[in-house]
Amino acid sequence: MKPYQTLKLHSLVIAVLFIVITLIGVQYLPPLVVILTTTSLAIVALSWRLYRALHRQIEIQQFKVFRQTEALTGLYNTLDIQHPLPTTRHRAASPDFLHLLAREIFRLQPELIVEAGSGTSTLVAAYCLKKLGRGKIISLDHLEKYAEISRRTIKSHGLDNFAEVLYAPIKDYEIDGKKHLWYDNSGLEAIDRIDLFIVDGPPRNIATDARYPAVPLLIDKLHENSIVLLDDGARPGEKQIVSQWKQKYGLNYTPEPLEKGAISCHFSDPG
Ligand SMILES: C[S@@+](CC[C@H](N)C(=O)[O-])C[C@H]1O[C@@H](n2cnc3c(N)ncnc32)[C@H](O)[C@@H]1O
Repeated sequence: MKPYQTLKLHSLVIAVLFIVITLIGVQYLPPLVVILTTTSLAIVALSWRLYRALHRQIEIQQFKVFRQTEALTGLYNTLDIQHPLPTTRHRAASPDFLHLLAREIFRLQPELIVEAGSGTSTLVAAYCLKKLGRGKIISLDHLEKYAEISRRTIKSHGLDNFAEVLYAPIKDYEIDGKKHLWYDNSGLEAIDRIDLFIVDGPPRNIATDARYPAVPLLIDKLHENSIVLLDDGARPGEKQIVSQWKQKYGLNYTPEPLEKGAISCHFSDPG
């Protein structure tokens, strides 16, 4: 049961007890005394319950914020970041996702990373590649404005040798007889091998399964050791997408317990 549902249930129980005790009490005591006593007791019980619920929520939020701060501090300490990173969370990837991304890049040492949805993650990936001294990230963005913002940020951090952002407007595709929308992927034609594929777009307002075409459209460029990292894995739409990828392309997946959820997909079993 969710916390607000428990709170609603407890408030209802207190209200029912208040009515029952009042009805019984007025049989034996003066009504004013009964009502004043039961009202005071109900107020104390409700206040206590609210205090407990708020306290719990504050603890949960503090823990979440601590986890994100810890992840961000780790990145700043490891990556020799030259200027402040753009904002994280909300539309951008959360620090815990960026931390996972950095870990995966250092583990895989990829030659080529492709990303759907540019932003802070592109920059963090480029910093990791710079630290490794090899590799490149190519990031697609369907909005010219954000593609340009990402390009400028990459330049200002001196990461042009490691990252490239392609403006890739959304276009129609037909996959297994069904219409889908995804980035224009013509800019990726020359590529034949993607080691790490970050899927953090298109946004959900394009379609609830907007990220599904990522694997069907680029499957020929993935190899047995490729990793597909899907952000926002806690959303039901994303869970559905990975189960379709597994069914159709044999891509196994491991959910990562992050703020927005993330799902790491791989062809081999992570023995
Ligand atoms: C989920 S975001 C990608 C986030 C990116 N991977 C990052 O870590 O920052 C998907 C798309 O939203 C768009 N976007 C980014 N910031 C935005 C904003 N403030 N308002 C509207 N769209 C935005 C960009 O086109 C981006 O490709």
